[in-house]
Amino acid sequence: MTTAIRRAVIPAAGIGSRLLPLTKAIPKEMLPVGDRPVIEHTVRELVASGITDITIVVSAGKDLIQQHFRPNPALVDQLHAQNKHAYAKAVEEVAELAHEGHITYLEQYGPYGNGTPVLNAARGSGDEPMLVLWPDDVFVAQVPRAQQLISAYEKTGCPVLALMPMDREDARRYGVPEVKEDLGDGLLRISTLLEKPEPEVAPSGFAAIGGYIVTPGIIKELQAITDRWEQHQTGEVYLTDAINAYAATKAVYGQVIDGHWYDTGNPTDYLVAQFASALADPEYGPVLRELAQGGDGPSRVR
Ligand code: G1P
Repeated sequence: MTTAIRRAVIPAAGIGSRLLPLTKAIPKEMLPVGDRPVIEHTVRELVASGITDITIVVSAGKDLIQQHFRPNPALVDQLHAQNKHAYAKAVEEVAELAHEGHITYLEQYGPYGNGTPVLNAARGSGDEPMLVLWPDDVFVAQVPRAQQLISAYEKTGCPVLALMPMDREDARRYGVPEVKEDLGDGLLRISTLLEKPEPEVAPSGFAAIGGYIVTPGIIKELQAITDRWEQHQTGEVYLTDAINAYAATKAVYGQVIDGHWYDTGNPTDYLVAQFASALADPEYGPVLRELAQGGDGPSRVR
C-alpha cells in the first residue's frame, strides 16, 4: 500500500523572464489561456485528481494570484443586484475551487533554482509524497496528467516524472531521461535525467515536462544539496540534481502522459496554447478558423 497523495506544490515565484515585458506587472501564472489564467488550469487539474492541500510558492509581486482565488462577496452581491447571475456564479466558482484545493501560499526562501520551492513546501509535510506541477503548463487530457502520475505512483511506490515524446531537435530545451526498462502502458524505469543535452547525445526521445511525484527520499536529497549550498554559498538547487542523486541507488519512474501539452512559458508556445484552446472552444473556435482562413473575423465595422 502506498501513501495516498493529497498534497501538491506549485512553484510560482519565478520572474517569467522569457515572457518580458508581458510579465513585468502581470505574473506569468496569471496570463490567460482560454477564459481563465494559466494557474487556474493547474489548480483545476489538481482538484480533479483528488488533491486537497495545494501550496503555491510565491514571491513579491505575485499578489494577483491570491486576489484571483480570494472570495469576493462584495463583487458577487453587486453582480446579483445587476442581474448578472452567471458572472456572479463564475466569480464564486473560483473561490470554491481554491477552498476545495485548500490553497495556501508560502513565500519562497533560499537559494536560486526550482528545488527550493519544493523544499520550502515540504517542510511540515512529514513523510508524505507530494505532487509538483510547474505553473506554466496546460494539459488537455481525458484523464488529468496529475491523476496519471498518481496512478503510476500507486503502481510503483517510487518517485515519478511526467514525460512526453519529443522531437530530438528539442532535446536542448528539456530534461531527457535515460530509460532503463519499459514496463508497458507508458511506465518507464529511468536511470538518470540529463538536463538540456544536445540532440546527438540525448539518451531518449522523451522530455520531462514539469510534473513530478516527489517522495521523502527526494526531499532528503534536496535538503543535502541545500545544506552544501549553505556551507559554500555557491551553485543552485535543482530538482533534477536531487532526482539523479536518488536514482543513483533507488528506483525512479517516468510516466508517458496521454494528452496534449501546452507550455506557456515562452512567447511562441504561449501563443500556441492560447490559439489551440480558443480553437477547441465551441464559441470562439469557428470565428478564429474563419479568421485564419483569410476571413474578416467578427468585427463588421470597417
Ligand atoms: C525544467 C526542468 C526540465 C524540464 C522543464 C520542463 O527546466 O529542469 O527537466 O524538462 O522544466 O518545462 P526549465 O524549463 O525550468 O529550465
